[in-house]
Amino acid sequence: MSTVANTKAITPPDIRSRKGGTSLVCLTAYTTPIAKLVDRHCDIVLVGDSVGMVLHGLPSTLSVTLEMMVMHAQAVRRGLEQALMVVDMPFGSYEEGPEQAFRNAAWVMAETGCTAVKLEGGEAMAETIRFLTGRGVPVMGHIGLTPQAVNAFGGYRVQGRGEDADRIRRDAFAVADAGAFAVVLEKIPEQLARRITDDIASPTIGIGASPACDGQILVVDDMLGILRDFRPKFVKRYAELGETAAAAIAEYAQEVRERRFPAAEHVFGDAPRTINGGEAA
Ligand code: KIV
Repeated sequence: MSTVANTKAITPPDIRSRKGGTSLVCLTAYTTPIAKLVDRHCDIVLVGDSVGMVLHGLPSTLSVTLEMMVMHAQAVRRGLEQALMVVDMPFGSYEEGPEQAFRNAAWVMAETGCTAVKLEGGEAMAETIRFLTGRGVPVMGHIGLTPQAVNAFGGYRVQGRGEDADRIRRDAFAVADAGAFAVVLEKIPEQLARRITDDIASPTIGIGASPACDGQILVVDDMLGILRDFRPKFVKRYAELGETAAAAIAEYAQEVRERRFPAAEHVFGDAPRTINGGEAA
């Protein structure tokens, strides 16, 4: 795995310089084919720990491991040429302290060739973010609804309503001041997202945080409609791939049962057929 920076690729300083400019486009990816599809359209591709719920059927992100992140990140790396690649640090891999975070982030970077890591948490993580950014590890912050704290929050509720807004604002300042080159704002009210975006120097990337942010991120499987029953308010479905796939699989099953597949064109003969002098198959 090459860990040498690709000179064509978007960098953390490029992302920083987009503060207040053209909206930043970000999506998740967990596999090579999806990375290839999203690369040319995205500024940032995140190998999110949402992979645990989306691809592995886990009930939350809490049991995602560093090894899972590395395996998916290596696959994504092979599909990217341009977008800035960020890898999520999973639950338990950075919260003990700056040294643990640095050791694991350095391992993820070396194994995957990613440019940056993302970790969840505000004021409580500021010291760790400062430690990492001061040692060559670009960090993307993530505040508001931080899914790794689902048990502490008691669910996936909107954060920062009413008096709770001050807590989220403090988190935003702490993470930005510690050196995060961008900050994900998840599931917070529009007014709060606007104030934070106006007030901090780092670009904000919203998910369920309104168009007031400097950019947007979605889980790619959500916006493609792959998981048919998952329909959160903040996701717009740009396709219904789950429906399309279900219909295709049902058609295949019916054709196999009726012996209509494979048809003549899918069958090999004794002698190779030729088309225009060349071998067809
Ligand atoms: O894990 C993830 O996919 C994320 C985002 C969508 C922000 O953290």
